[in-house]
Amino acid sequence: MRDDSAYSLDGKTAIVTGSGSGIGRGIALEMANAGANIVIAELKAELGEETAVEVRAMEGKALVVETDVTSEGSVARMMAAALAEYGAVDVLVNNVGSLGPDGEKTTLADMSLSFWETLLKVNLTSQFLCCREVVRYLLKNERKGSIVNIASLAALVPYEASIAYGAAKAGVVSITKTIASEYGMSGIRANCIAPGPVRTPLVEARYKGRDAVKAAQNRVSPLGRWGEPEELGRLAVFLASDASSYITGETVVASGGLTQFLTKLP
Ligand SMILES: NC(=O)c1ccc[n+]([C@@H]2O[C@H](COP(=O)([O-])OP(=O)(O)OC[C@H]3O[C@@H](n4cnc5c(N)ncnc54)[C@H](O)[C@@H]3O)[C@@H](O)[C@H]2O)c1
Repeated sequence: MRDDSAYSLDGKTAIVTGSGSGIGRGIALEMANAGANIVIAELKAELGEETAVEVRAMEGKALVVETDVTSEGSVARMMAAALAEYGAVDVLVNNVGSLGPDGEKTTLADMSLSFWETLLKVNLTSQFLCCREVVRYLLKNERKGSIVNIASLAALVPYEASIAYGAAKAGVVSITKTIASEYGMSGIRANCIAPGPVRTPLVEARYKGRDAVKAAQNRVSPLGRWGEPEELGRLAVFLASDASSYITGETVVASGGLTQFLTKLP
């Protein structure tokens, strides 16, 4: 009989930040499907509860912790709640991210310092805080762990009016490599996912009323469509599980091949 236990997260506990919506919800559901106990660390607890209902419907375990991942104290309380509920933490998925209010589009010349700082905080400082909390716990308890940080295609190629977002996501790629190199010998792996467009409230807001732009983008994309949250979820399960045990410090692009656009130009 086929043994696919390396792909299992059975009995493991996974913190998924921002899992009340979009990609985070897709990741939480796929990780629950793989057997993990889920910690839904979410600013909007009511959204987190919706995800928890879906996890429990699959006979999985879910704990919703109202969390602001940009706050040091809130992240520490979330970790304490996770440990109180499940006794251990094995996986961290840093999924929270934002393009700005309502997917606001701001180019360099028009960008305020406060907008820049807000995007750095929500996209990068948040990941620093959560990684630090989990790595300290893993080291103290001599446990192995896997961290999956959600970056973006915008970390690797410029995205329209996204200088702060792109810089923050490039920072995510960088901290992931550093964590991988600093803690590999302690049994801690860290990898990034760089998604292209995925059907979630975040990108729906940015493309609202811009069907022509979306159509043009899909025309040059090899798969000709946006991704779905569960497609990112399955990749996150792979990176969190022992199936990827020899992979660390890497950034996996999941964009339907969008970076190959030159091949599809007319
Ligand atoms: N959707 C895409 O096309 C796309 C593409 C590339 C990268 N990404 C990245 O994927 C991640 C998820 O994106 P999404 O499209 O699912 O976004 P989304 O806006 O649908 O979901 C984000 C979730 O994070 C929560 N959140 C926001 N701030 C928080 C905070 N301070 N503390 C805790 N929770 C908070 C929100 O309440 C929401 O539930 C982000 O990091 C985003 O940058 C998305």
